[in-house]
Amino acid sequence: MSSPPNKLNVHALRWQDRQLSVLDQRLLPEQVHYDIFNTAPEVAEAIKTMRVRGAPAIGIAAAYAVALSVQQHFTLDNTAWQQRVYADMEILAASRPTAVNLFWALAVMRETLAVVSDSPVNAMIHKAVEIHQQDIAANQKMGEMGADILGDAQGLLTHCNAGALATGGYGTALGVIRSAQQRQKRAVYAGETRPWLQGARLTVWELAADNIPATLIADSAAAMLMQSGKIDWIIVGADRIAANGDVANKIGTYSLAVLAKHHGVKVMVVAPVSTIDFTMDNGSQIEIEQRAASEFLPDCYVQEDGLINAWNPVFDVTPAELISVIVTECGVVFNPFEQGVRELRNEYSI
Ligand code: MRU
Repeated sequence: MSSPPNKLNVHALRWQDRQLSVLDQRLLPEQVHYDIFNTAPEVAEAIKTMRVRGAPAIGIAAAYAVALSVQQHFTLDNTAWQQRVYADMEILAASRPTAVNLFWALAVMRETLAVVSDSPVNAMIHKAVEIHQQDIAANQKMGEMGADILGDAQGLLTHCNAGALATGGYGTALGVIRSAQQRQKRAVYAGETRPWLQGARLTVWELAADNIPATLIADSAAAMLMQSGKIDWIIVGADRIAANGDVANKIGTYSLAVLAKHHGVKVMVVAPVSTIDFTMDNGSQIEIEQRAASEFLPDCYVQEDGLINAWNPVFDVTPAELISVIVTECGVVFNPFEQGVRELRNEYSI
């Protein structure tokens, strides 16, 4: 395995020369390879196949994809081009169901398209870049807010990859870990995150690129680690947060939160307000993506008789009552089970 490259050189998404470069996260950590896309359906495919993943990064990729669509279809001759852009938005919306940032970004781009008059291409590119920049700024802010809450807590366990690779940059959960680590050294643990191994392939690699030592654990070692007293906080991102504070995040987050309650460990969820779905009263309404059995079922078991199957939900919902605090760029909600996160809506605008 090659050593981690300098953090400044690796980005999940880069907008350059009116094209979108997407880091193929399926190849990490062995290879750093970017694909260059010029059309929205290509970007939708990249989201579906998890070249780009992580809720905020998916939203940002979709925003750039809409800009690409306008760039491809805009013509002064007639207005039919807008129908092509709307059709591309439908393709993007069908790429992955759980991360609400995708639908949020598409809504923002749709609203922008509805009001632009001259230079729609420039206006849409500008909006996509703004969404990207705002995400990085939000992450940096949440990093500081989360680090304030941690104080001098020593043991931190994260799950999946909620880092620079999953966002515009800096990361949500890993943004807090980055900011906290700048203040003082901590013991950082990462769960490998079966079946796609975001923790093993992305999180510890990304942290190492930032000179933050991290210890990888098998997901099934989390209970014993907590029992040992080494963990003070579990810090995770989110794919969709319901208005009552229930949190959909990578499969395994719920298990960690249940274990945390038993062991007196606190749970911090870090996510921008674009991850909150104010239309959903609670987490039971969140669609949980099911991915192919082949993501972890050995090839030799895939036989016509179908006697051996696999169940592969890739997110779960952690009830608000198991969450100690939700950190957003617009404010922090302690004990979200009390009132949910509805009040944050008033603080938010883009
Ligand atoms: O399937 P993935 O890799 O897209 O899932 C990602 C996660 O569950 C992350 O924890 C979540 O999107 C937060 S990313 C800042």
